[in-house]
Amino acid sequence: MKTVLYPGSFDPFTNGHLDLVVRAGKLFDRVIVAVAVNPGKQPMFTLAERESLILEACRDLPNVQVVSFTGLLVEAIETLHADAVLRGLRAFSDFEYELQMALMNRGLKRDCETIFLTPTLKNSFVASSLIKEVARLGGDFSKYVPPTVAVAISAKIAQEQTFHD
Ligand code: PNS
Repeated sequence: MKTVLYPGSFDPFTNGHLDLVVRAGKLFDRVIVAVAVNPGKQPMFTLAERESLILEACRDLPNVQVVSFTGLLVEAIETLHADAVLRGLRAFSDFEYELQMALMNRGLKRDCETIFLTPTLKNSFVASSLIKEVARLGGDFSKYVPPTVAVAISAKIAQEQTFHD
């Protein structure tokens, strides 16, 4: 039984992320989407919200699980008995950061393998940060995220605007 761990902030989960999960689900017996607690970032969605949005988006994918983790990724790999880490590569600009992380993780855990998959072209420029920016500025972001995520983003934006009024 081969398990791949797909870590990320997923704030929010996009069609690009879903694209990768679907691809990984065909290559591995089990895909664990692992939502990271990142103390350095101020997320739009809480950990529990992110987890539940991913669960909903992946509900038709039987071999996908969703968890959250704190601390080092290599520790989560150990605890969850994962065989490899999955990361997405969209453009060349992703490469440097991804290579750094892959090598650091291998430095921390000698047998840590990172596997990179690329999404389909139409999802290649989708980034959570861009989606949030477009949404906050009133643009149509709905085709870049699963339907439930789109609804949740709209609700957050409405909440933010009420708070600022
Ligand atoms: O979606 P992101 O923000 O690019 O994901 C980055 C993430 C969560 C995969 C990375 O920051 C991470 O692995 N965090 C856990 C802490 C850790 O192990 N840091 C060292 C990574 S080399």
